[in-house]
Amino acid sequence: MAQVRTEQTKYLLAESELPRRWYNIRADMPNPAQPVLHPGTGEPVGPDDLAPLFPMELILQEVSDEAEIAIPDEILDIYSLWRPTPLFRAHRLEQAIGTRSRIFYKYEGVSPPGSHKPNTAVAQAYYNAKEGRTRLATETGAGQWGSALAFATTLFGLECKVYMVKISYEQKPFRRSLIQAWGATIIASPSEETQSGRAVLEEHPDSPGSLGIAISEAVEDAASREDTAYSLGSVLNHVLLHQTVIGQEAIAQMEQAGAFPDVVIGCVGGGSNFAGLSFPFLREKIAGREIDVLACEPAACPTLTRGVFAYDFGDTSKLTPLTPMHTLGHDFIPAPIHAGGLRYHGVAPLISQLVRDGLVRAEAYLQNDCFASAVEFARHEGIIPAPEAAHAIHGAILTARAADEAGEERTILFNLSGHGHFDMAAYDKYFAGELEDVALDEAEIQRALAAIEGLPAPA
Ligand SMILES: Cc1ncc(COP(=O)(O)O)c(C=O)c1O
Repeated sequence: MAQVRTEQTKYLLAESELPRRWYNIRADMPNPAQPVLHPGTGEPVGPDDLAPLFPMELILQEVSDEAEIAIPDEILDIYSLWRPTPLFRAHRLEQAIGTRSRIFYKYEGVSPPGSHKPNTAVAQAYYNAKEGRTRLATETGAGQWGSALAFATTLFGLECKVYMVKISYEQKPFRRSLIQAWGATIIASPSEETQSGRAVLEEHPDSPGSLGIAISEAVEDAASREDTAYSLGSVLNHVLLHQTVIGQEAIAQMEQAGAFPDVVIGCVGGGSNFAGLSFPFLREKIAGREIDVLACEPAACPTLTRGVFAYDFGDTSKLTPLTPMHTLGHDFIPAPIHAGGLRYHGVAPLISQLVRDGLVRAEAYLQNDCFASAVEFARHEGIIPAPEAAHAIHGAILTARAADEAGEERTILFNLSGHGHFDMAAYDKYFAGELEDVALDEAEIQRALAAIEGLPAPA
């Protein structure tokens, strides 16, 4: 018989406690992120350069130095469909791994599409609709972002076109169905519908696709139509900004639990869920509080741990501005690991700068180890994690074990960014012992990095 617990498991906030402002870390960073550059002129990109792709309110958020930005009521109204999200104490996992540390997790999988992504999708759809755009184009890796944007655009009556990385399109047919159920159009990338897609297919007819290629296709689509804006699910400052409701809620919930984390952990693809949880805590760290902030990435796409900090394009066809970030090079095609949302050659400039400044540290893990931790978690906590979020779980378990070995007790908080209900084929492969661990060759990293030689160097 399981023992009866007296300590609380779930920490919930009332709808009235939903954060009313997003937190903008740019206001507090010790060193500002460097400007994004126009590839033709080498000069910082201005609002007018971005206007064909984004609505003006998002462009202003992208460059804002205000610490807090009010969340419009229309967005709060939609957030209230699933927010505030629950925070759990992982009592059963703690017991199973025999740790003396306390492990908490914030669960973003309760949103209708099943991840943190609608926190920004709803905001982006709102501002686009408000400024008269009628159609959005985007890319998606695992399908989480594409389904979040399809969900958000249908609520605002916008059309939506999703370029889905081909390997995920094949591995995750039900994410495709979700996107269609919410009324969006979806196509496998690289596709024949854009110049960027056709160029890749000509050279590599069997290309599994990558986020870099799919971004090129979506940007090209948006740039070629008046009625269409581009929408990105991660990396950009305004996207990270919208996710900060996660960490603000978590601070209030940790207070309810009478605790404050020593360690804050998230997985990093482009960086949005990690930023969402950690930025409000980093605000406290920058103000002097001691917190270890850990970013977890896949060893097959080790942007923060093995990439370089450089100016690079956000996409494969070099259509985006030059972005100062940790990168593996814009033509790096990550191995087809199952954490599709972590297969991106770059990472958010804000996170890159925080890593440079020593405020955030990063570790890279193999996918079989992450699946092992995800299964351990599922068997004790119940929730089946998305493979991306499995990296954060693995980071939390390793952190607890290291604390036990050092004879320490720590309070650990991680972001469970989504559920894995549409990723069961990946779990099947893991159970069948068919998941490959990709040990990325240094020579491949050097080859890919050659593509950024000659681009401007950051200060
Ligand atoms: C559940 C989940 N977690 C994490 C990520 C990684 O993206 P980001 O680093 O922007 O949070 C994704 C991306 O698709 C995702 O679906």
